[in-house]
Amino acid sequence: MRRDDPAELMRASVLFTPLRIGPVTIPNRFVRSATHDFMAEEDGSVTERHLTLFNQLAEGEVGLIITGHAYVNPAGKASPRQLGVHEDRMVEGLSRIPQAVHDFPSRVFLQIAHAGRQTKEKICGCTPLAPSAVYEPVFKVMPRAMTKEEVKTTIAEFVQAGRRAKQAGFDGVQLHVAHGYLLNSFISPYTNRREDEYSGSLLNRARILREILGGLKSLAGLDFPVIAKLNSSDFIPQGLSIEESIEIARLLEADGLDGVEVSGGMSEAGKGSIWQGLRSQEEEGYFVDSASRFKAALRIPVFGLGGFRSFAVMERAIEEGKVDLISLSRPFIREPDLVKKFRLGQVDKSECISCNKCFNPRGIKCGDLVKPSRRI
Ligand SMILES: Cc1cc2nc3c(=O)[nH]c(=O)nc-3n(C[C@H](O)[C@H](O)[C@H](O)COP(=O)(O)O)c2cc1C
Ligand code: SF4
Repeated sequence: MRRDDPAELMRASVLFTPLRIGPVTIPNRFVRSATHDFMAEEDGSVTERHLTLFNQLAEGEVGLIITGHAYVNPAGKASPRQLGVHEDRMVEGLSRIPQAVHDFPSRVFLQIAHAGRQTKEKICGCTPLAPSAVYEPVFKVMPRAMTKEEVKTTIAEFVQAGRRAKQAGFDGVQLHVAHGYLLNSFISPYTNRREDEYSGSLLNRARILREILGGLKSLAGLDFPVIAKLNSSDFIPQGLSIEESIEIARLLEADGLDGVEVSGGMSEAGKGSIWQGLRSQEEEGYFVDSASRFKAALRIPVFGLGGFRSFAVMERAIEEGKVDLISLSRPFIREPDLVKKFRLGQVDKSECISCNKCFNPRGIKCGDLVKPSRRI
């Protein structure tokens, strides 16, 4: 290997080594973290724009692509133009996503979700649901506490959603247990104030996740990977703490969870999950120190997340044993071919400046026109 050739050095990096998640081999360590794209039909169906998006990411050599959150029930719809996985009739359209990806070595997981109290009646068609009636100040919503029967139905809906994902040809699913959505609000002592077996102790709050995971493993099979995107902390008083979150991850690992992506924050916390205005390398990987605590406690792969932009910072996070995989969202909106450019030694940093102008309700796209020059 020529040590003076940046392209060769990058190709030889640990970032370009494969890793297994359950029985599925991911060809490199780059993950496209779940990114809601605002591209579905109003009924949650897949569109041609999705196929272009996912095909570009796979052609751009992203090792594992995680879709935007797909709702398991319209009552859990978070946003217009969101993917739905709530009915069997969605399977045919969804199957076009893995087809668009599997022309390449990339793997693709469907993120399955329920918005809980972080939505509005005009989007989800009912009073938003939550473990308990705790007011949500950002959405200005007083949610309705779910009955125990509704909790059981929701567990079954997540399991059926996972079964549909497998039927559609996805390589795995990710449970959305972060950012204040329904599953996160069940494990959080701040939002879960029920008085039944789904509340109170850590074991009780984790019960909903364990029942979903158990159902998925028995219906979709032990060889179908299930990973979770988990809040390390809610960043609010009385919210979920990192110590409890790690304990929940350990319980899930013992039940067969195949990997965990570590995130944090919720809408009313002020400190959300998509931090703006990152500039220096020191600000990159803002959930990685939290993720490294999960890694120390677990044997399953741990995904590091939050503001990664520089190849060297990503490489270091893996080399130092803090995480196993590197997740990025916004950089792939701007440059779906970023991984390929890294491999070819064309760039050493994403152009994304974390301005958050990509939230376009007509379909995500980079809204920043400035092109910083950082070719190498
Ligand atoms: C437009 C947009 C949509 C997002 N949608 C989701 C989503 O559907 N599910 C999810 O778990 N996170 C979602 N996120 C959060 C990202 O997955 C990621 O955690 C966050 O943006 C931090 O990573 P980054 O700095 O690489 O962008 C979204 C982020 C953006 C910018
Ligand atoms: S608009 Fe473009 S530069 Fe700004 S955060 Fe989104 S992808 Fe990055």
